[in-house]
Amino acid sequence: MTVASAPGKIILFGEHAVVHGRPAIAVPVTQVHADVEVVESSRPGIWIHAPNVDLDVELNALPSDHPLAAVIHNLLFSLGISPFPPLDITINSTIPVASGLGSGAAVSVALVRALSSALGHPLTDEQVNAFAYEIERLHHGTPSGIDNTVITYAKPVYFIKGHPIETLKVSRPFTLVIGDTGIPAPTKQSVGDVRRLWTKNNLRMEQVFDEVAQISLMARRIIESGQPEMLGDLMNQNHAFLQEMTVSSPELDALVRAARKAGALGAKMSGGGRGGNMIALVTPETAEPVSMSLLASGARRAIITQVE
Ligand code: PMV
Repeated sequence: MTVASAPGKIILFGEHAVVHGRPAIAVPVTQVHADVEVVESSRPGIWIHAPNVDLDVELNALPSDHPLAAVIHNLLFSLGISPFPPLDITINSTIPVASGLGSGAAVSVALVRALSSALGHPLTDEQVNAFAYEIERLHHGTPSGIDNTVITYAKPVYFIKGHPIETLKVSRPFTLVIGDTGIPAPTKQSVGDVRRLWTKNNLRMEQVFDEVAQISLMARRIIESGQPEMLGDLMNQNHAFLQEMTVSSPELDALVRAARKAGALGAKMSGGGRGGNMIALVTPETAEPVSMSLLASGARRAIITQVE
């Protein structure tokens, strides 16, 4: 039996601008994870069990562009494995789907790791990341690659599309509350809308992306120099730019306001937007009240996580 696990993730700064070549910062969220188990099977075929999405099926019964089928086909083809060995693959995930916590990328990463090890061809992080990115392209069209990168390396990253991976040194750990609107929102849609806005109003959107790039750069310095309480203002500024990109929503704005009112040092939406999650920077004293206030203001769940 071979097992592999991958964490969820959250974007701290720079979502959307990152699709347009600017830097962004993302961190792993270990409270949620995808877990994959691969065992040799006594019956023919590759069987996939994914109770979270009610799937219990043989590989060939899935359309070839199904994300799980695509991962398995790509991997077996690249490793030159034919005929396919009989396997039972079980996938469990505690990461909510389409909410900005990286559920798709985490399943891809854990699946590639477990399957390649089970077949006697364990892959490097770089290879796992490349596979997961190809699958992200199937989901999203034009992903920046930040999700698969932060999840593969399971470390905070300062990410620029197409640049070598830079992990971040967190000099002083800090605490975030993640509030989930419970509204699933496809990232592909919001990324497409921002692209249309950028085409229509190129000058202003380029300025907005540049402002966000400065925020990510300053945030990196603050995180590395160990003054995380200074991130709050930057989160508030980044949220305003995301509103201008039209990717926030009344529900996200309400949770952001509630978090600030309950004592958060700053708050913003996170990820694709229009639904999904927001994040709030808190101290050990305000973590609980902020979480309670988010739940009272309509959040489906609130996760307290430490960035370190
Ligand atoms: O997967 P999400 O919802 O956290 O969003 C990804 C962040 C975007 O910048 C909006 C898209 C991308 O590919 O980077």
